[in-house]
Amino acid sequence: MKITVVGAGAVGATCADNIARKELASELVLLDIKEGFAEGKAQDMMQTAALLGFDTRISGSTNDYTKTANSDVVVITSGLPRKPGMTREELIGTNAGIVKGVCENILKHSPNAIIIVISNPMDTMTYLALQSTGLPKNRIIGMGGTLDSARFKYQLSAALDCSPADLNALVVGGHGDTTMIPLIKHATWNSIPVTQFLSEEQQEKIIADTMVGGATLTKLLGTSAWYAPGAAGAALVESIVRDEKKLFTCCVSLNGEYGQNDICLGVPVVIGKNGWEKIVDMDLSASEQAAFNKSADAVRSMNDVLKTL
Ligand code: LAC
Repeated sequence: MKITVVGAGAVGATCADNIARKELASELVLLDIKEGFAEGKAQDMMQTAALLGFDTRISGSTNDYTKTANSDVVVITSGLPRKPGMTREELIGTNAGIVKGVCENILKHSPNAIIIVISNPMDTMTYLALQSTGLPKNRIIGMGGTLDSARFKYQLSAALDCSPADLNALVVGGHGDTTMIPLIKHATWNSIPVTQFLSEEQQEKIIADTMVGGATLTKLLGTSAWYAPGAAGAALVESIVRDEKKLFTCCVSLNGEYGQNDICLGVPVVIGKNGWEKIVDMDLSASEQAAFNKSADAVRSMNDVLKTL
């Protein structure tokens, strides 16, 4: 198994670190445009192999895509991160050109790769990757909802004083501060509805804190977060390479599902060796469906910006 992570910044490096520690690949390539940067990170990570006991060979490449040849899975993290006060959407102009170029280069050398998109604005970058490559839709996966669901579980676990691993909770819709939809009425603590333990006010706070989860960290850190985004990317890689068929919320192409067309948006999907293998239908209430449609409208108008670039 060979995996490439494009972009050796904090998110890409953390994702690569997780992939190596879990030994998800025999070969892992980290690529970046900054001279020597990916090589340096790769070497630093390889020097943890003897300490951590993993057997993945990590190498770095300064923009030489021949080194990525025959990758099975490629994670794209390239592009500018958010600065404090910035929305993910403001990155579209710069990141669209970067993501399109990365996809072209990757597919020249790894025509069968499954692509995971992390770059922001993630929903639009996923849509762009799908449109520009013309790949079968199951091979393009946007990571956003996986991260947002993990952040939702974090907020729920703090309120319930319970283990995040005991929670089932999904965030659907877009990966934006105002477009994501934490589905609290469907969330359970080992199959017990969490709403049983939380007042309306507590529920509203958990939802609000989840939605600004990324922005809160950007404010604290001065740039966007990396541990959870990197781990979310690696969790998807794991489900693909081990063919786990785990259910995650991911941004995928919708063709009538959840009442939407010609858009990539976060819905529950099964992730396995073929990429996203199935969209799982959920019974959304009228208000949840209305929120989903509103989220789709916002993402669609962002996608329209692509036509003007
Ligand atoms: C975040 C970025 C990765 O939410 O979108 O932290």
